[in-house]
Amino acid sequence: MAEEVKELQGSNGQHNLDNYKQTYENFDWEEAKKAFSWYDTGKVNIAYEAIDRHAENPNKKDQVALHYVAPDREEKLTFEELSKQSNKFANVLKKQGIEKGDRVFLFMPRSPEFYASFLGILKVGAIAGPLFEAFMEQAVHDRLEDSEATMLITTPDLLYRVPQDQLPDLKKVVLVGDSKDIEDGYIDYHEEMKNASDDFDIEWVDLEDGMVIHYTSGSTGKPKGVFHVHNAMIQHYQTGKWVLDLQEGDVYWCTADPGWVTGTSYGVFAPWLNGVTNVVVGGRFTPDAWYKALDQYKVTVWYSAPTAFRKLMSAGEEVAKKYDLSTVRHILSVGEPLNPEVVYWGLKAFDRRIHDTWWMTETGAQLICNYPTMEIRPGSMGKPIPGVVASIVDDQGNELPPNRMGNLAIKEGWPAMMRAIWKRPEKYESYFLNGWYVSGDSAYLDEDGYFWFQGRLDDVINTSGERVGPFEVESKLIEHEAVSEAGVIGKPDPERGEIIKAFISLNEGYEESDELLEDIRQFVKTGLAAHAAPREMDVTDSIPKTRSGKIMRRLLKARELGLPEGDTSTLEE
Ligand code: PRX
Repeated sequence: MAEEVKELQGSNGQHNLDNYKQTYENFDWEEAKKAFSWYDTGKVNIAYEAIDRHAENPNKKDQVALHYVAPDREEKLTFEELSKQSNKFANVLKKQGIEKGDRVFLFMPRSPEFYASFLGILKVGAIAGPLFEAFMEQAVHDRLEDSEATMLITTPDLLYRVPQDQLPDLKKVVLVGDSKDIEDGYIDYHEEMKNASDDFDIEWVDLEDGMVIHYTSGSTGKPKGVFHVHNAMIQHYQTGKWVLDLQEGDVYWCTADPGWVTGTSYGVFAPWLNGVTNVVVGGRFTPDAWYKALDQYKVTVWYSAPTAFRKLMSAGEEVAKKYDLSTVRHILSVGEPLNPEVVYWGLKAFDRRIHDTWWMTETGAQLICNYPTMEIRPGSMGKPIPGVVASIVDDQGNELPPNRMGNLAIKEGWPAMMRAIWKRPEKYESYFLNGWYVSGDSAYLDEDGYFWFQGRLDDVINTSGERVGPFEVESKLIEHEAVSEAGVIGKPDPERGEIIKAFISLNEGYEESDELLEDIRQFVKTGLAAHAAPREMDVTDSIPKTRSGKIMRRLLKARELGLPEGDTSTLEE
């Protein structure tokens, strides 16, 4: 143990954030802005700062920006090539009449085409909406409908999940695939790219102009469109330095899909704003494939998630030992609580500490983190980044002293904070209390300033790092002809963090059977998304509800876990 404690101490050497305490006391975001060319020119576009600026630099232009690897494809694009490819796509968009502020969505797996399109969208000043390729029809529909997206970029394989007849705003669909699979009426990506110029006059925007929308789940209602603006680049860049510790010559791998905010803020912006080579690995997760990627591409900085680490852990240390992981200098985690057990395993398997980071879709960038020079306390999310004030507040927004559990809250005004919930101003307002952004997580702060995550305060489920809203699953369940009512909760699970458990009651004339339950499960899986399908399902006569008809998920959960039922005074008779 003494040995381990020593290993948890901060590492010395050359790090971008050497003195946390001093920087925290003195840092001002105004300082960070000086890293950007717009500080002098007044001309802003995040795609310019991330890509074109390096493409214009004779010393950087030939460096690999994107190293894409999948089982059947490997491709490298330099900053100059990526700049040209995204210019071409920007020209394609212009030709199709896409303008500043338009919503252009992407529904496709990670690929060089994805990144060229994504950057092209930003270059015309439009707003990009990346969607997980795992989404099924309902999930795709709700997001495109809410955002009033006018264009979608997808693949011929995924097209059947896009209900175009129910999406009046969706005027154009670009297909990335073989020309022979592309029917009339669709825009053929490769054909258009062939003919497009690789010169483009980038659209200069305002720092407060729209950049990306990420849909995410809450405990009530449909998924909400979290709206981010170009200003976020200031924090993407700065946390890339301090937290990812990116340095010249680094090879960086973020395992997250860009359908999730981690895959854009830290899978696109932070690495490229800092001018490092970005490895993108396609294909399915297997422990061997991942270790091989670290080894073969000589990854130096690696950002992943507890679920993945737990899977690697259960595959055994011996698998790790088969590979040369000596280039890996810095490992980080996000998305769920990072169990102390995983941190100790990391010390053995990689001889490295895993650095937890906390943030949310809504916060746009990392806020509470463990830094290379800081002692790690396993189980703690770390300390706020310089320029950010974090605290624990009560339900009235008053700060609580150390060691008291409460709402994890952030003082309003960090650069990457969302600027709106798309078309739902009241929802946006509901996050704020007394000058604090209230996260919905409960946590406490220890005497030394470390934050400790305790749980979600709402009913949002975190299964393998995927944020799932119970309402969305319940809504889908009751669309099934056999289901009359449904209540959905997250149930603790050692590998996935939580699994989705559904309680359902059946319509008259339906009998419980394994076949029926499997049919219902498949219905959610093929209608919404595989990760949203309940892994466990119980049939009950009735679902507990409040007198106003709200499903009491808290009570379902307490009963499931054998915990005290708490206040049930609002329970319907
Ligand atoms: O509950 C927290 C959990 O994930 C939520 C945010 O999910 P999402 O918007 O999908 O974004 C995650 C990636 C930025 C949080 O409210 N969460 C995130 N990071 C951690 C975490 N829980 C514990 N420890 C973390 N490091």
